[in-house]
Amino acid sequence: MKPIQVGLLGIGVVGSGTFNVLQRNQEEIKRRAGRGIEITMVADLNVARAQELVGPGVTVVSDARAVIANPDIDIVIELIGGYGIAKSLVLEAIAAGKHVVTANKALLAVHGTEIFAAASAKGVMVAFEAAVAGGIPIIKALREGLTANRIQWIAGIINGTTNFILSEMRDKGLDFGVVLKEAQALGYAEADPTFDIEGIDAAHKATLMSAIAFGVPVQFDKAYVEGITKLGAADIKYAEQLGYRIKLLGITKRRAADAAKGSSDGIELRVHPCLIPAKRLIANVEGAMNAVVVQGDAVGTTLYYGKGAGSEPTASAVIADLVDITRLHTADAAHRVPHLAFQPNAMSNLPVLPMSEVVTSYYLRLRVADETGVLTKVTGILAEAGISIDAVLQREADEISGEVSLGQVPQTDVIILTHDCVEACMNAAIAQMQALPSVLEPITRIRKEELA
Ligand code: HSE
Repeated sequence: MKPIQVGLLGIGVVGSGTFNVLQRNQEEIKRRAGRGIEITMVADLNVARAQELVGPGVTVVSDARAVIANPDIDIVIELIGGYGIAKSLVLEAIAAGKHVVTANKALLAVHGTEIFAAASAKGVMVAFEAAVAGGIPIIKALREGLTANRIQWIAGIINGTTNFILSEMRDKGLDFGVVLKEAQALGYAEADPTFDIEGIDAAHKATLMSAIAFGVPVQFDKAYVEGITKLGAADIKYAEQLGYRIKLLGITKRRAADAAKGSSDGIELRVHPCLIPAKRLIANVEGAMNAVVVQGDAVGTTLYYGKGAGSEPTASAVIADLVDITRLHTADAAHRVPHLAFQPNAMSNLPVLPMSEVVTSYYLRLRVADETGVLTKVTGILAEAGISIDAVLQREADEISGEVSLGQVPQTDVIILTHDCVEACMNAAIAQMQALPSVLEPITRIRKEELA
């Protein structure tokens, strides 16, 4: 059988990795797919550079629409990124009857409902293994490997840039700004790192995992997103002393209503810095690596670890999608794996809960005047709110920060770990504690997950 022909839109880091791995492993891939898979056409604005990368045997054009219009192309790989032209091209490729492979998490997290509906109507596949956690086959695991399970929760380190920054902050005791500059110099962080450090990239990925895990539409606009920019070295150190590490986690959970906690049925979808017990495997994922923990009712806890970015790791995921499509494109559309794991007519309308209804535990740090009765007032407010305390630590403010408060009221840091409560309840308690005259600075609140 003649090879299936693939058109590539954008030959940057991932595109060139895809081209190279397809060439290098072509025999092995053909034995698996049942026929050869060849990139025969590439669109890139820098035609000369692209032609140099792929050699004379491949047609290179500057106009992506020429690839979509080519009747010999069966699969289009979109590696342009962003919501702009990439969205138009993906929809045009679908309309032209092409199957699409994309690494574009932003596009799918925001416009996935429209794109998957268009693909289903046209009977083509949109595959996106590379969109979440790079080379880790987490989409395949959630959609197929764990299909027997009622998935309960997912928690992942799904942004390598921020994990690198947090690892460095912990190792070297440095503050965020210093490590960000180092990460940029080393190429781990982009010149404009906003999407990574503000948690947006991780929220795109968490949104996709949530949809597949629970059979709900992609709803990035409902995700709670908080990045790592406000984290201080002191909190990382205090967390360590309490047996925890701080990681930026993408979390999604199925939640049953709990009248006692005042919470309703729904799904939690959130990205924020999080304390996790240092003894958990995922707490020990360092540098730019990614890891995802999935809890299913039958399988229990499973952990997936690997490179979340980079040329060939991401190419590995892109090519896995090419092989899937090559195997399945002649199958009746009804017998293919649904885009979001659940049949389109069996999707759930379970709502994404607002952050005020999320149930979690907390790390609080209060910079207080070191005077009699402060701790009693603080713990009294928590008790009054029905929030149970798990641990308390008190440290002289200058013990960690090196600050010396000559001539001032002696200050101390009070660190409190709580048990689970509803976020709205914690918000109210924090507002009350903040109003105490002895609380000298804005209270630091970091959420905590035991991941047990
Ligand atoms: N910028 C992402 C990260 C890689 O740092 O993990 C691509 O998703």
